[in-house]
Amino acid sequence: MNKKRDCITILLIVFSSIVFAQNNFSGMHLKNTSGYTQLFINNAPFLVLGGELGNSSASSIDYLRADWDHLKEMNLNTVLVPVYWELMEPEENKFDFTLIDSIVTGAGKHDLKIIFLWFGSWKNSMSCYAPLWMKTNAKRFARTNDTARRSQEIFSALATATLEADKKAFAALMKHIRQTDAAKTVIMVQVENEIGMLPTAREFSATADKLFNAKVPAALMNYLQKNKDNLVPEFKAKWAQQGFKTNDTWSNTFGADIFTDEIFQAWYYAKFTNEVTLAGKNEYDLPMFVNAALPRPGKLPGQYPSAGPLPHLMDIWQAAAPAIDMLSPDFYNPDTKYWCDLYNRNNNTLFVPEMQFDKTVAAKAFFIIGHYKALGFSPFSIESENIATQSLTKGYNVLKQISPVINSRQWQYMDGFLLDKQHINTSTQMGKYQVTVLHYNTKSWASEAKDSVWTTAGGIILQTAEDEFLVAGTGLVVQFENTDKNKVTNIAASDEVTFNNGVLATSRRLNGDEDHQGRNIMIATGRWGIQKVKLYNSPAKIE
Ligand code: DGJ
Repeated sequence: MNKKRDCITILLIVFSSIVFAQNNFSGMHLKNTSGYTQLFINNAPFLVLGGELGNSSASSIDYLRADWDHLKEMNLNTVLVPVYWELMEPEENKFDFTLIDSIVTGAGKHDLKIIFLWFGSWKNSMSCYAPLWMKTNAKRFARTNDTARRSQEIFSALATATLEADKKAFAALMKHIRQTDAAKTVIMVQVENEIGMLPTAREFSATADKLFNAKVPAALMNYLQKNKDNLVPEFKAKWAQQGFKTNDTWSNTFGADIFTDEIFQAWYYAKFTNEVTLAGKNEYDLPMFVNAALPRPGKLPGQYPSAGPLPHLMDIWQAAAPAIDMLSPDFYNPDTKYWCDLYNRNNNTLFVPEMQFDKTVAAKAFFIIGHYKALGFSPFSIESENIATQSLTKGYNVLKQISPVINSRQWQYMDGFLLDKQHINTSTQMGKYQVTVLHYNTKSWASEAKDSVWTTAGGIILQTAEDEFLVAGTGLVVQFENTDKNKVTNIAASDEVTFNNGVLATSRRLNGDEDHQGRNIMIATGRWGIQKVKLYNSPAKIE
């Protein structure tokens, strides 16, 4: 009898988990293929060529209506759009999805995808997007203090009521998307926005101090011990300085300083965000990520938005927030490579949700997608009239064309390049070839050659067969050299090509001035294009 009952119970559990899985299944997922991760929409890989709206643009249906055509013309395939908690839940438990529905409809009509940004408990450190009924109830929704012990409009990450309210609202949002977005317009979600503690590295309150003076939670210590060999070096060094303690207070384990304050705060921010993420995924399982404001050089914790998903805190975020799929950098500094390298650790997939919309941005898209195999890219304030619009439109046009090739993973090597007056060349090995990429302005005939500032150049090279390459981008000179010194490499043919839905069409055969009489592949500064290159090799010495 008991056996029968047990069987029925097991069947019920299995059945309900299948139903549950079906319920929250979105069709969007991240999959690691050939060593790195891609976004799949209903089993088709998708490269995000995105743009993020300015903060307030999505608060008015009429305001936004005018932008859809423009965004489509810019060759975006995805728009990153804020969801404002204050407008979505103006009264507790009363949800208004009007704005959200209109955005999903507007995007869908223009064949654009949406990544929603949940402006929940925190937006750029502050809690400005929380509903007023929360802001005005500091007793229920605890706030942090500044150094003068004055209350700030920043919620504490330790308040259960705040967490529960955020979870409930976010779950309602995700449920609504699941129920209404049959066309699968919404493809990912960012949870919160640039979480970061200010103007101290951690919260100070009776609750925070108690937790801070207690032992480091076992869950974190277990994770660190298990992953000891793979921690990011700067974090591991900090733990090592205290002798890799495993059962002690925060200060004894990591040192008594503000860097430890930040680690402590990161743990609680990440735990909070993980719970919000899980609440949302339980309703609708879209890939979800968090973003970080990158600190300026030389600033200490507390002087920059601290404890967010920053590179030196990756281990903490990954330990506390396994439900989060990616930790993402927002770029408002020129140090693209430096920060991308740091985010490209610990199996973190690179996705850049915000990059300053300036004249360098299109070239950077090529570098980040090509070099880091990023899942996507998105300049900020994309709807604004901007001097960079033209180059982004052209750059995205090229990326849109080669996306199917990139997505197919049917290439042997791919790399991306970013060059300017300070970085005039770089090189990489692809199969048997050493590939050198120079800025086009290194050529004496380039119109900008003698200028003090050069237009930023960027490109992607894909090796599609042993002796065949696609070169795409702007402002590049590319030279191929056989690593076997007994061989000399030359260009067999270089064709200007376009792709339409992955189908290649050949335009001009490029020779003469266009490939420097057979010496190298070139795309001039200010031009954007794709070339299909075939090489041949002959003996270096003919006896
Ligand atoms: C980063 C934030 O994430 C954006 O929402 C925006 O505030 C920009 N900074 C700056 O305008």
